[in-house]
Amino acid sequence: SRISLIGAPTDIGAGSRGASMGPEALRVARLGAALESHGLEVVDRGNLSGPANPWQPAVNGYRHLPEVTAWNLAIHNAVWAELQQDRLPILLGGDHSLAIGSISAVARHCRATGRRLRVLWLDAHADFNTHRLTPSGNLHGMPLACLCGHGPAELVRLGLAMDQQAAIAARCVRQIGIRSVDAGEKRFVHEMGLEVFDMRFIDEHGMRHAMELALATLDAQTHLHVSFDVDFLDPGIAPGVGTTVPGGPTYREAQLCMEMIADTGRLASLDVMELNPALDHRNQTAELAVDLIESLFGKSTLMRQP
Ligand code: ARG
Ligand code: MN
Ligand code: MN
Ligand code: MN
Repeated sequence: SRISLIGAPTDIGAGSRGASMGPEALRVARLGAALESHGLEVVDRGNLSGPANPWQPAVNGYRHLPEVTAWNLAIHNAVWAELQQDRLPILLGGDHSLAIGSISAVARHCRATGRRLRVLWLDAHADFNTHRLTPSGNLHGMPLACLCGHGPAELVRLGLAMDQQAAIAARCVRQIGIRSVDAGEKRFVHEMGLEVFDMRFIDEHGMRHAMELALATLDAQTHLHVSFDVDFLDPGIAPGVGTTVPGGPTYREAQLCMEMIADTGRLASLDVMELNPALDHRNQTAELAVDLIESLFGKSTLMRQP
C-alpha cells in the first residue's frame, strides 16, 4: 500500500512535556526508509501545526481543551485527505489525545465507503476517562471515551453527521496490554462493555490467543486501525514515554502482536503515539518502535506466508 507519514508535534494532551518531539525521533530512527525497504511506497507529508502548549491547569475537568480541539481538527482533515486518496495514513504523535482526530477521520471514511471498522488499542491505559472521572484533566487519558460519544461536544462531534451520536461504537474496539485503569474509569469501561485483553489475560492465555480473539471476525470489508501507544511496551525495553507502567509486553510478545496484525492483511491506518524523546535513552524507544512497525507491515524472518 501507499503510505503517508503525518507528524503531529505536540504534547498538548499529556501530563509531561516532550511527546512533541516524537515525530522527529521516528524520522531520525528512519521509519520511512525502513518501510520502503519492504517495498512500500512512502511519502512524508511533514508536520502539521497547531497551538503551543500553554501548560495550564484543568478547566471544568479538561486541560487545554481549545488547543487539543485545534490539533485534532487539523489531524482529522489531514488523515481524511489521505484516506480519500486511497493512501494509508500513519500519524506520528504526539500524545494520545490526537487519536480523536485520526480515528474520527477513519470512522468517517468507513461510513462513506461502507466498510466495517475494527480499532486495536495497544496501550498500558484504557484512555477511557471523562471530565468527571479523570484524576488529571489530561485529555490523553480520554480519547477513546470521546470517540465512543462521551466527552466535550467539540471533540465528540469531530467529523460527525447531524444524526450521529459517536464516531465509533464500543463494540468495534479491542484493547490489548492494559494494566493501569483509574477507579472510576474501570467502572465506565465495564459499563460500556469494552473488550479488553489486559495483562492478566495475556499472562494466562498468551499474546497469541489474545490476538486471535482480538482479530477474530475480520472480513474482506474490514478497515483495521491500530492505535499504538508506545507505553503499551514494557518500560524495560521502552523507557521513552511519559506514563510508564511496569509489566508490559516483552519484545517477543510485542513482535508477535504486530506480526499477527500484519498477517490479517487488513491494516489500513495507524497511530504511533506518546513517544517522548526527552525521556528516552539515545533514541532506543524510537528505534524499537520502528522495528515493531516493520513487523506490523509484514517484515518476517522467513518467507512465511500468513
Ligand atoms: N489514566 C491516566 C489519566 O487519565 C493516564 C492516562 C495515560 N494516557 C496515555 N495516553 N498515556 O490521566
Ligand atoms: Mn498509555
Ligand atoms: Mn488459541
Ligand atoms: Mn494511550
